[in-house]
Amino acid sequence: MLTTQLDNGKQTEVLLADDLKDLSAHLGEYGRLVLWVFDTNTAKLFKQLPPSHVVLESGESAKNFTSLERILSAALDEGLARDGRIIGFGGGGVVCDMSAFAASVYMRGCRLTLVPTTLLAMVDASVGGKAAIDFKGMKNMVGSFYPASEVLLSIDTLRTLNEKEFLNGLAEVVKHALLSQDEELYKFLLVRKNEILSRDPKTLAALVELSLKVKQWFIEQDPTETLGIRQSLNLGHTFGHALESSSHYLLWGHGACVAWGTCRALEAGVALGVTDKAYASGATKLFKSFGYDIEYRIGRGDWIEYRDHLLKDKKKADGKVQFVLLEKKQGSTVLSPLDLQLIQHLVIAKPIF
Ligand SMILES: NC(=O)c1ccc[n+]([C@@H]2O[C@H](COP(=O)([O-])OP(=O)(O)OC[C@H]3O[C@@H](n4cnc5c(N)ncnc54)[C@H](O)[C@@H]3O)[C@@H](O)[C@H]2O)c1
Repeated sequence: MLTTQLDNGKQTEVLLADDLKDLSAHLGEYGRLVLWVFDTNTAKLFKQLPPSHVVLESGESAKNFTSLERILSAALDEGLARDGRIIGFGGGGVVCDMSAFAASVYMRGCRLTLVPTTLLAMVDASVGGKAAIDFKGMKNMVGSFYPASEVLLSIDTLRTLNEKEFLNGLAEVVKHALLSQDEELYKFLLVRKNEILSRDPKTLAALVELSLKVKQWFIEQDPTETLGIRQSLNLGHTFGHALESSSHYLLWGHGACVAWGTCRALEAGVALGVTDKAYASGATKLFKSFGYDIEYRIGRGDWIEYRDHLLKDKKKADGKVQFVLLEKKQGSTVLSPLDLQLIQHLVIAKPIF
């Protein structure tokens, strides 16, 4: 069990169960004072759903007020009081983020358990307390900080995850390896690549635990993201989000864009003399070894749209977009604005002639 200490004496206990049966037994102890939240895909993982439940549409487009209202209405219909518990069983978006947001506002805060079922939700979205819905086409615009009191993981839920979703989560794991204070996760990724990609359960359990520890370290240092420490977790996201949104979410999944963006951030760091060149080259190879197309470049004609999306990034200081760069090697970062010319050079296709 891992425990994350947060502000105001709050803590999140993370339990790694042996399998789904183990988890069900633990959750069964809560009796009827609970409301389960699934999406259409995670509901399929159960032969029979628990009596009090709501099944939301799956996918980012359902991360909205309508789904929030469905959870709150169901909680009220089931007679949940403040000592009642919402159990979110699913991925990071519709289920974990929405269950957490619903729990934060239901009767000014009820109990919350998250059971993340994607690799991304296991290593990232389920811990740290960020809860949100999308609003007016903008991601995570309305939300709160509301850490789950417990996060329960069962690696066997990852068996049904498709390849794209698995790689989405894995990119965040590799990013965590670059941010880690020690080299354990980085070495694990190098040595256990084949077992990771073939989803060997024991290997994945160890991988998730190592990755979670990195996220926990940042959360504990900066629980509400006000000290500038937790921002390091955005490594690769500024370059990556702009690619994701300027390609209208059609090119790749979020994780592949983050992997690509992290490699651009490594190159930017090298260009500015901030990041060690040999380290950046090794880290880029690591991403490549997991199948991410990190050599991809956008077409010249797509630059204006890419730039416009980049400039809309939320992470600004003095009106300038901030990029997370690695200082020398892993484990230490700096925030820096980048010259548009350098960005263009890094992301655009080399001229053919
Ligand atoms: N709160 C945070 O700190 C935080 C951090 C990172 C990302 N996020 C959010 O998380 C979301 C992305 O996470 P995600 O990729 O887990 O999103 P998701 O919940 O949309 O899940 C991705 C897809 O996988 C399906 N799925 C989930 N578990 C499955 C399983 N075991 N088997 C088969 N299919 C399964 C879902 O139905 C969905 O179609 C985004 O909305 C992002 O904003 C939040």
